[in-house]
Amino acid sequence: MKKEWFEGVLKAREQAYAPYSKFKVGAFLICKDGKTFNGCNVENAAYGDTICAERTAFVSAIAAGYKPCDFEALVVTTDTKTPSSPCGSCRQVIKEMCEDDMPVFLTNIHGEVIKQTVDELLPLGFSGRDLEDVK
Ligand code: THU
Repeated sequence: MKKEWFEGVLKAREQAYAPYSKFKVGAFLICKDGKTFNGCNVENAAYGDTICAERTAFVSAIAAGYKPCDFEALVVTTDTKTPSSPCGSCRQVIKEMCEDDMPVFLTNIHGEVIKQTVDELLPLGFSGRDLEDVK
C-alpha cells in the first residue's frame, strides 16, 4: 500500500461524524486513473440511517461519474488495536463496484495493515451475474 494512500485515509477519517458511537472510520478509494475519494461514517440520531465510511466513498465516486470497475484499491482505517473489517452491507457494495481481485487494505491508525481481496471479504458473494443466471 502506498504511503500517500495511508495518509489519505487518515485525513478522510478526520471528517467522520460519529457523535453517537464515537467510532470514527475513514475510507480512501483510489480510481484507476489516479483520482481519489474520501469516505467517512456519517451517523444519525435515528441510528439505522447511519452510513458507513466505505459506502460514503463509493457513493461520492459514482456521483462524480465513476463506474463499477474504475477502482484500483480501497483503504479503510479505524482507531482499533487491530484493523477492523468492513460490515456486511459494505462488503456487498464493494462487491458491486469492484473486481473480485481488487485489494482492500484494512488498517488501523497506528499503521497496521491487512491486505484482502474483494473475493476474500465476500466469498461466493451475490452479484449481477446471479441475476443473469436464471434458468
Ligand atoms: N462503520 C463503518 O463506517 N464501516 C463499517 O464497515 C463498519 C461500521 C461505522 C458505522 C457507525 O458509524 C460506526 O462505525 C459504529 O458501528
